[in-house]
Formats: sequence, structure tokens, C-alpha cells
Amino acid sequence: MNTHTHISISDYYGSILESTQDLKTSVCCTAESPPNWLREPLEKIHTDVTERFYGCGFPIAEAVRGKTVLDLGCGTGRDVYLFSQLVGEEGFVHGIDMTREQLKVAQSTRDWHMQQFGYKKPNVAFHQGYIEELSEVKDESVDLVISNCVLNLSPRKDLVLKEVFRALKPGGEFLFSDIFSDRRLPPWMMEDQVLLGECLGGALYVGDFLSLARNTRFLDPRKLTSTSVDITSHEIRAKVGAARFASVTWRLFKLEALDDRCEDYGQIVTYTSLMPEVGSQFRLDDHHIFELGRPERVCGNTAAMLVDTRYGAHFTLVGDKSIHYGEFPCGDTIAQQSSSTTTSTSATEPCC
Ligand SMILES: C[S@@+](CC[C@H](N)C(=O)[O-])C[C@H]1O[C@@H](n2cnc3c(N)ncnc32)[C@H](O)[C@@H]1O
Repeated sequence: MNTHTHISISDYYGSILESTQDLKTSVCCTAESPPNWLREPLEKIHTDVTERFYGCGFPIAEAVRGKTVLDLGCGTGRDVYLFSQLVGEEGFVHGIDMTREQLKVAQSTRDWHMQQFGYKKPNVAFHQGYIEELSEVKDESVDLVISNCVLNLSPRKDLVLKEVFRALKPGGEFLFSDIFSDRRLPPWMMEDQVLLGECLGGALYVGDFLSLARNTRFLDPRKLTSTSVDITSHEIRAKVGAARFASVTWRLFKLEALDDRCEDYGQIVTYTSLMPEVGSQFRLDDHHIFELGRPERVCGNTAAMLVDTRYGAHFTLVGDKSIHYGEFPCGDTIAQQSSSTTTSTSATEPCC
């Protein structure tokens, strides 16, 4: 795979941009501040890497110690080196990117990072390749796939999702941040090198993304956070017209038994075993917070996401799916209602 879009993007990230300062917008450069538990691991990352960070969110997951993680479009490796610390020496993180110049920076700081983290042997590897064909990645070999501001750049987003589904173990998760638009964009935007490179031209309309995800058997995409993108450049604002953009972080689970709606089986889950990194409140998505020790009524899909995945060690479930009580009344968990922290949601997705 080497399309004209790939060449244009590789040129943008390999030759045109030298650091985050060269971006024409702040789209590929998140304004979100990191969760507290990530501050220390972030401080341990080399500035050669952080100065060339072009991500748009924090697709950083909990409960990953010992796991295998794959970062699609890893760039200079900021998130690879974050996860290197989170999975520990017994886990492993692979980064894949098509742009040689980006990988060179990632690779050149590997030994420095391993020393910094106190590891005897490296737990990261970087590979040059396309995210549309992960030929080196075996079926069902990865616990968690992450990606930060890359899917929008792919000319074949359908292939990317298929490859992710194939690579994930059953119960695995695809956690990624990307730029989405509130409408289908005209094809000329994808041809505009600056709009494309700045992560706007190839942004998916959120409705089309949901259809694509469901067609790839990621049946119940969950939105974790959404931050609207402020385009300050007059020139770029004029080009995109009325289209609006947001940086969204999604969780997609590879769980075969999900319903395509939220269904009620009378199940109750409780967050019973602390994830030290997140503390007493675990956030599954933008309307599901779970508080340590507090039972919550949930739909069958939410129960599966918490119990049949790597989060299972931290949750207990009462009830199975033997009796169906009809549609589940979607809404915030009780812990979410009483939490003072809120994130924005849009009306375009189902709420459960
Ligand atoms: C916006 S940057 C994000 C980089 C990195 N995730 C970060 O947060 O700094 C996009 C990266 O994705 C890579 N990329 C874009 N399309 C790709 C594709 N189809 N296959 C592999 N890599 C791709 C680019 O080379 C670039 O390094």
C-alpha cells in the first residue's frame, strides 16, 4: 500500500514539520491536560520525542501491566514510551509508522528511555509499515491497540478497523483519539495537503464512523471524551467553512456477544478491586463512572465490557444473561450523577 495520500502525509510529517511548533493549527496537538496519574511517566520522556508529539488526546488505558500494546501511527513514540512504563518490563509495546524520519527519532531514544525506566531489556519495538496492512501482527495477539490522531489520515479507514479487529485478542480494546467532523467533508479537502496533514481534511463524520465501527463488529463504540477544536487560522477556517471538528477518544471492544442496543438482563456490577492508577473512580465512558464498592445497574454490553475484558479482575458481576427484561433504560450511572467532573457529549451517539 503506497497511495498518493500516504506519500503526501509522509512528506508532511517527515520533511515539512520539524516540531510541534511548525503545525499551522493546534488540531494535532492536544490542549487537554493529562490525567494526574500520567504526569510522572510523561516527565520521564525525552524532549526529542515530546517536541515532535502530534497527538490530539490521551488514549492511555488503565490495568495494562504485563500486557501487549500496539500503537498505530506512533510517530516519534511519545505514547509508546508512556505505555512502556505502564505495562512494565513484563509487558511489550510495538509502534508502527510509515514515516522513516519519525521512527528514526523514536528508535534513537530507545536505549536512553530503557535506562531511564531502569529496564534490563527493551520492552518496545518500532516497525515501519502501513496501518491498513498489519501483516507482521499475528491474529488475536494484542491486548490493547491505541492510536493518537492517525485514523483521520488514512485513505482506507475500513481496512484499519478490520486489521485492528483481527489483531486484538477476544476481550481486547481499541482505544484511540482522533479528529471527527460534524458532517461529511467534500473529497477536495482530503486532497489539500495542509488540511489533510493538519488532521482536518480526512476527519470522519462521526455518524459514518459509528456505522463503520459496527460493520467491523465493534458493535457498541463508547465515547470517553470529546473536546471541540478551535481553528484559529483565518485561512484554514475559511477553507473548512461551516464544518465543526472535535477531538474524540473512543473505546471499541472486541466482544462477540454484544447486543446492538442496550438490553436489560438485570445485571449489577461493582468496582471491587482498586486500579491504583485511577483510584476510587473508574471511568468507562462519558456517562459511566464506577465508584469503588458501589453497585450499579448496567446493560448487558456494559457488563461485558467490564467483566469479559482485562478490567474483569477489578469488577464483580451479579446476574447473567439468562433472563431478558427488555430494553435497558440508558443513562448516567449513579456515581456519574453524583460526580462533579463532567465531559461534553454530543447527541449523535446512543447513550449506552
Ligand atoms: C498526527 S501524527 C501523530 C503521531 C503520534 N501518534 C503522536 O501522537 O505524536 C500522524 C502519524 O501517523 C503516521 N501515519 C499516517 N498515516 C499512516 C498510515 N496509513 N500508516 C502508517 N502510519 C501513518 C504519520 O507518519 C505520522 O507519524
